[in-house]
Amino acid sequence: MQSIFKQAIDAETIRSINEAVDAASDGESFEMLIPPKTTAFLAPFKTTLNQQCNAINWDADSFVVTRTTTEKGNRAAQCFHFDNFRKTTLIVLKSGDAALNGDILIRNGLRKSPKSLWPTMVTKIFWTNPVTWAFLRIPFIRDRFFTRVPLVAGDVMVFDGSTTYHGNLPLSAGVRRSILIHEDPLFKDAFITKLFHRLCTMIFYKT
Ligand SMILES: [Fe+2]
Repeated sequence: MQSIFKQAIDAETIRSINEAVDAASDGESFEMLIPPKTTAFLAPFKTTLNQQCNAINWDADSFVVTRTTTEKGNRAAQCFHFDNFRKTTLIVLKSGDAALNGDILIRNGLRKSPKSLWPTMVTKIFWTNPVTWAFLRIPFIRDRFFTRVPLVAGDVMVFDGSTTYHGNLPLSAGVRRSILIHEDPLFKDAFITKLFHRLCTMIFYKT
């Protein structure tokens, strides 16, 4: 189950972080920045974020991502998935007012806490592929299958992304931006885990 901290981060801190992300960004319609870039430009804000919300913390092994999307990135936003980490902290930096505003969609407990590698890979492949995504992108199905969590800039949510299947609503206008701090990796030394991570890095992420 997720924990939500409404307006945990003040507007001035959010504004300063957005400036730092803008400076590091190429302004693409769907952009994910990853370590070491993110850990470097977010370092000046780490203490402030922790002081304002003590659920926010990261160490050298954390995988810290900033994610920025516009309506041109709607397909990528709806690539529903499980995380390869047991703890994900989401900090919203930008949000919009439209009905389709890129809110996070979750389905809690769609699988049990992963205990062994191969069953985890089977559930991952079943739920993370273009056929499943095409089905779940149908609004009638999507809106019944997922719970929409309305979060705005300054809100924080902590959840177990390894058991909570998740993705985002499309965006009809504006920009949605978040920090995602991933901790406690699953099977981090397994070859298949490293391969998936490498593929994600090549396809989705920008270093
Ligand atoms: Fe995720």
